[in-house]
Amino acid sequence: MADQKHSSKSIMYMTIAVAVLLMVVIVPFTIKGSAPSMAGSADDAEVRIQPVAKFELKLAGAADAAASAGPKDGPTVYASVCGACHESGAAGAPKKGDKAAWAPRIATGNNALYQSAIAGKGAMPPKGGAANLSDDEVKAAVDYLVGKSK
Ligand code: HEC
Repeated sequence: MADQKHSSKSIMYMTIAVAVLLMVVIVPFTIKGSAPSMAGSADDAEVRIQPVAKFELKLAGAADAAASAGPKDGPTVYASVCGACHESGAAGAPKKGDKAAWAPRIATGNNALYQSAIAGKGAMPPKGGAANLSDDEVKAAVDYLVGKSK
C-alpha cells in the first residue's frame, strides 16, 4: 500500500516536471514568434508597436464605418441593445422565442409594441436604454424580436 502511494506521488512529480520542462522549452519560442525583432536597431520600437497601432487604426475605422453606415438593421440593434434583457429574460423581459409570453403582447398590435419599445414600458427604458437609436431602428428590432417569437 505504502509503495503504491509512493509511486503515484512520483508519477505526479514526473508529470509536473514534464510540464515545467515543456513550458521552459516552448515559451521562449512563442515569445520569439510574436516579437518580430529583438535586435537593438532604431526601427525596433516602431516594429514592436506596429500590431497595436494597426489595431487602433482598425478600431477607428470601425467606428467611422458604424457612424456612416446608415440605419442599423433589426438583428444588429437587437444583438447590441435589446438582447441584454430579451435574450435571458433579465429584468422580467419576455424572452425572444417565448411564444406564450409574446402571444398576448403581439395581440395588442405592432403599433402598441413599437410604442412600448420607443417610449419604454415597466422595467424597459425608452429604446431599451439606447437613446441614440432612431425610431425606425427600434421598430426594426421589434419586428425582428417579434418575428422570432411568433
Ligand atoms: C433593460 C432591459 C430591457 C432592454 C435593454 C430592452 N427591453 Fe424590451 N422589455 C423589457 C421588459 C422588462 C419588458 C416587459 C415590460 C412590461 O410589460 O412591463 C419588455 C417588453 C418589450 C416589448 C413588449 C412591449 C409590450 O407592449 O408588451 C417589446 C416589443 C420590447 N420589449 C422590445 C424591445 C426592443 C426592440 C429593445 C431594444 C431596442 C428592448 N426591448 C430592449 C426589458 C428590456
